[in-house]
Amino acid sequence: MESAVTTKVPERKVEDLPVVPTGIEGLDELIGGGFIEGRTYLVAGETGTGKTLFSLNFLVYGAMIGEPGVYLLVDEDYEDLIRGARAFGWDLQYLIRNNSLSVLTLVPDFAEKVKNKPIDTIVRSIVESIAGEIERINAKRLVIDPVAPFIVGERDIVWTREYIRNLVITIEKEFRTTTIITSEIPTGSNQISRFGVEEFLAAGVIVLGLERRGNKFYRIILIRKMRWRPVHPAIYYYDIVPGRGIVVKGQK
Ligand SMILES: Nc1ncnc2c1ncn2[C@@H]1O[C@H](COP(=O)(O)OP(=O)(O)OP(=O)(O)O)[C@@H](O)[C@H]1O
Ligand SMILES: [Mg+2]
Repeated sequence: MESAVTTKVPERKVEDLPVVPTGIEGLDELIGGGFIEGRTYLVAGETGTGKTLFSLNFLVYGAMIGEPGVYLLVDEDYEDLIRGARAFGWDLQYLIRNNSLSVLTLVPDFAEKVKNKPIDTIVRSIVESIAGEIERINAKRLVIDPVAPFIVGERDIVWTREYIRNLVITIEKEFRTTTIITSEIPTGSNQISRFGVEEFLAAGVIVLGLERRGNKFYRIILIRKMRWRPVHPAIYYYDIVPGRGIVVKGQK
């Protein structure tokens, strides 16, 4: 019978995996310099913990260092995002005009349109709609925020898992972007991610949360997994600082 395994002996030295800085203050030094180029990372957390600001921080920094980014805005209104970001101290319109950022939204009836379509078709349709912008601005970074809710409604968890799996694999194959997907965690649950597949597919997992002590709440960030990086799971405190973004502070 044929063997099910193969052994590979590298012919030359395997180069270190190139990393790109996230630009999130205090984070890069904790994760060996940044994210591995071309891989997908999951940022998960309950509502209001800062997933969108984390993602924007990654793109705004990219724009500053000549790495344009595409942001697929899934659950929020485009104008609200631009307005909210401006109030926070980030001029997204300036970056968009400069072609260092592109913000895409799904067409309003997207969920309706893809209702009974096979997963492959839905993933194709999303990937093709992003592809044009990735090419146009030569994007190196991509964010899908959040990765799933828009079609989940009546779909079951098995379907959603397969959808996310297919989407992440297709993105990593088609684009060279370093990608963040976000996932909301239902409030009060102890899950890492909503559908239980994102964490397996992602090269790294970051969980944002709130810790209550008495009457005070503290923002905490858990670096849960960083594949191929010398990182142990650890919890840190962080702040959300207008104009600066996510600022990671001391270890808990
Ligand atoms: N202009 C601002 N100044 C200070 N803090 C702000 C400002 N705008 C937002 N925040 C903080 O950021 C938090 C929201 O972050 P964000 O929208 O990134 O959360 P999220 O995890 O994406 O939430 P959701 O799951 O609802 O999309 C707010 O709860 C608020 O505390
Ligand atoms: Mg959000």
